[in-house]
Amino acid sequence: MRIITSIGEIQGLSTHWKKAGLRVSLVPTMGFFHDGHLALMNYAKQHSDRVVVSLFVNPTQFGPNEDFEEYPRDPERDRFLAEKEGVDCLFCPEAADMYPEDFQTWVNIEGLDKRLCGASRPGHFRGVATIVTKLFNIVRPDLAVFGRKDFQQLQIIKRIVRDLNFGIEIKGYPIVREADGLAMSSRNKYLSRKERKSALCLFESLKMAEHMVSEGCRSTRRLAHAIERLILAKPGTRIDYIFLGDPETLTERERVKGETLLALAVYVGATRLIDNTILRPPKP
Ligand code: PAJ
Repeated sequence: MRIITSIGEIQGLSTHWKKAGLRVSLVPTMGFFHDGHLALMNYAKQHSDRVVVSLFVNPTQFGPNEDFEEYPRDPERDRFLAEKEGVDCLFCPEAADMYPEDFQTWVNIEGLDKRLCGASRPGHFRGVATIVTKLFNIVRPDLAVFGRKDFQQLQIIKRIVRDLNFGIEIKGYPIVREADGLAMSSRNKYLSRKERKSALCLFESLKMAEHMVSEGCRSTRRLAHAIERLILAKPGTRIDYIFLGDPETLTERERVKGETLLALAVYVGATRLIDNTILRPPKP
């Protein structure tokens, strides 16, 4: 596996591969790999000839009171795991190269970024959109793989690719979970043993909502109330949002009809966790 920090070098390597007719894929990450990240790499490996994984804790997507400094990092372990997964190149740029002092160009989404995580993390998706656009321009992949765990992020990236004509295939990969259902996340490391127990309320809420819908419940208000009760019954939890709405436009719905996104953001202690599912009412 090649480890590259220079932007020019990775551009050269990717251009070389593409000239040779190879299909190049990109998996953007912030490192501290878990099985969710590794599953995206594995998918990329199966669906392309060369896999580039970027590892960059992107400062511009963290708010001033967020965890940029404390964000977990373990580059050596990451290198080992990526190599084992058959990754061809790990691209680990320096912040000073990605954002030189006179940097002044940003990618702004106007719509999809307003609700859900965008409402409580102002500027977050501008940072994500800008870094992902830069990575797309640097690597010029044929395929890029993202997790559905960050559902809004995935929809925003699909929007950017359409709006700015990137011509890159975007794969949204299913959520990878721990044995008890907790969605894997680098931030799970922050949870104490007690908090880890409370954190299961996100998955339990998704399962409960799926069950209520299968039993005929269509009112999103009723679903949201039941979820709220379930979450607040666990110690140390605080709800950021419970969203029920259109998976494409991310606008709220009063009733569950067709595919409906249920997305949650919950603080467990100081750690903010997200999870989601698509509710599908059974056909009559
Ligand atoms: P990061 O949180 O490191 O996640 C990298 C990729 O892994 C994202 O596409 C994310 O959705 C996916 N992922 C995380 N947990 C997952 C899980 N449990 N199951 C499936 N996929 C999962 O998301 C980011 O980094 C950044 O915002 C980034 C896109 C790299 C831009 O900086």
